Amino acid sequence: MLSKTVQAALNEQIRIEAESSQVYLAMASWAEIQPGINNVTEFFYKHSDEERMHMLKLIHFVNERGGFATVPALPQPPLTFPSIKHAFAALLKHEIFVSESINNCIDIALAEKDYATHNFLQWYVAEQIEEEALARTMNDKLELIGDDKSGLYLFDKDILTISIAGA
Ligand code: FEO
Repeated sequence: MLSKTVQAALNEQIRIEAESSQVYLAMASWAEIQPGINNVTEFFYKHSDEERMHMLKLIHFVNERGGFATVPALPQPPLTFPSIKHAFAALLKHEIFVSESINNCIDIALAEKDYATHNFLQWYVAEQIEEEALARTMNDKLELIGDDKSGLYLFDKDILTISIAGA
């Protein structure tokens, strides 16, 4: 049985994963109307789907442990970006925020001696290591590319391979 404190922390994490999905969905829609970055677009759509999966996994866990997972209201995410580089910088910043939030959930689970939740959250710890590393790789590549259009062409060509290798 989940304590009320752990339940509240996990419901907040459900909100954050839902918000992540929404934020990346907005990035995908913006990318889709930019010329020539079809794979970047697909990357954001897929990433949005993954965040929804993270949210669902939490919802099932909370409900299976005798709690009640609440589906949150979400704010309007940013809709446009000055450049692809800005979008990926926002993605990295967001993933760092998600990692901190997962760590906070773990602190709460340990304080409540809820070892089942602690164990469950280890999957998210591993996932965040990968997602942050992937986001850093993307940002490093975009930094190297700068304003070079042929570099951006290659970035778009490679992005799905990079993300599969990093997944
Ligand atoms: Fe589910 Fe990328 O945080």
